[in-house]
Amino acid sequence: MDYSILTNEELTKQLALCKKRYQSLLKEKLSLDLTRGRPSQEQLELSQPMLDYIATYKPGKNSDYRNYGQVEGIPELRAAIADMLDVDKENVIATSVSSLNLMFDVLARAFSFGVCGSTPWAKLPKVKFICPVPGYDRHFKMLESFGVEMICVPLLENGPDMDIVEQLVASDEAIKGIICVPRFSNPTGDVYSAQTVDRLVAMPTAAKDFRIFWDNAYFAHELYADAPVLKNIFDCAGDLDRVYMFMSTSKITMPSGGISALICTPKNVKSTLEFMGVQSLSYNKLVQYAHAQFLPNAAALRAHMEKHAEILRPKFERILALLDERLIGLPQVSWNHPRGGYFITIYAMPHTAKHIVDLCKKAGLTLTAAGSTYPYYRDDLDSVMRLAPTYIQPEQIDVAMDILMTSIEIATLERMIG
Ligand SMILES: Cc1ncc(COP(=O)(O)O)c(C=O)c1O
Repeated sequence: MDYSILTNEELTKQLALCKKRYQSLLKEKLSLDLTRGRPSQEQLELSQPMLDYIATYKPGKNSDYRNYGQVEGIPELRAAIADMLDVDKENVIATSVSSLNLMFDVLARAFSFGVCGSTPWAKLPKVKFICPVPGYDRHFKMLESFGVEMICVPLLENGPDMDIVEQLVASDEAIKGIICVPRFSNPTGDVYSAQTVDRLVAMPTAAKDFRIFWDNAYFAHELYADAPVLKNIFDCAGDLDRVYMFMSTSKITMPSGGISALICTPKNVKSTLEFMGVQSLSYNKLVQYAHAQFLPNAAALRAHMEKHAEILRPKFERILALLDERLIGLPQVSWNHPRGGYFITIYAMPHTAKHIVDLCKKAGLTLTAAGSTYPYYRDDLDSVMRLAPTYIQPEQIDVAMDILMTSIEIATLERMIG
């Protein structure tokens, strides 16, 4: 329906219908959740056989992964990750669960000890990071917890607005980094273009110890075979020492039983391991071993991720079909059609997102808090909403979307009527 041609009277009638629908949904006393990007149980089952490798593990002639040692990760896993990401295996440090944990540690080291000999960031009057927005709420929370001042730069279809980024980093020594989700960004699903990747590595920065936090959380998470590919950042010309790439298998195998990795140049590997060797005597090498056996190379990963995509595609497609069917024509409301990743972003009419999330909550559908895709929860337009379709059961999607779309209609129509 094209709402923009309706008279006020017609809009009021439409609003009354939506409110009636909302009242009937309220009576159903539902409890549904589209908040966090968790794999569903069905997805987790795909990796259950991996656990057998732990139970049947037998030590090799020269190695016993049950014991201390090899803080850099076991060689088989480093090689598997290197193949998956097309990087040198010497540049891979593989640890235990949570890339977020790795990122936090990298930041903590930069604050406490500096970066490869630079002044510890904690001794500087100000540390700033560029944050492409909308972005990942936990990145922002992490930076905030270190007292980092976050500078928002719009995330465009091809990555952050590089004209703004280049100008900022060239002139301000306090800007020490940028945090990126370059493939299937959380939440927009955008993929950085090759030109953006090139520019990030080549751009002059006032800070000598500038770092790119390259959170490759969704590097293998395409929903379609023709999904856009990401240029390998380590193939770019420029300052590769500025790149810290992160990956994990949280959404490949199991978030609570996975592995994560930091990939960086030999100079960064050396300086990182100096501290990691002090911090720990070993990571969970049996879990690393199970991963290396279960997913020994890029081909095995691709086959495994295709199984994930088969589970996820219908959920994404159903949600998008419902949005396309019911909300097209509602002014200033749009959504993206991601080719991979874990999220769908809805851009609600400005100044309605919080109201929509509240309406949904009352009707039993929990959504990620409005504003959470911006540092300090400051979405000035109050418009961006993130949907995480992975965890919900397929049979719950229609009713969850009914609540969401009815709430969007109510909030939008109320504003149109004024
Ligand atoms: C962009 C991004 N990075 C990191 C994570 C968390 O990863 P991990 O489980 O490896 O800490 C998530 C989880 O949703 C994410 O979306």
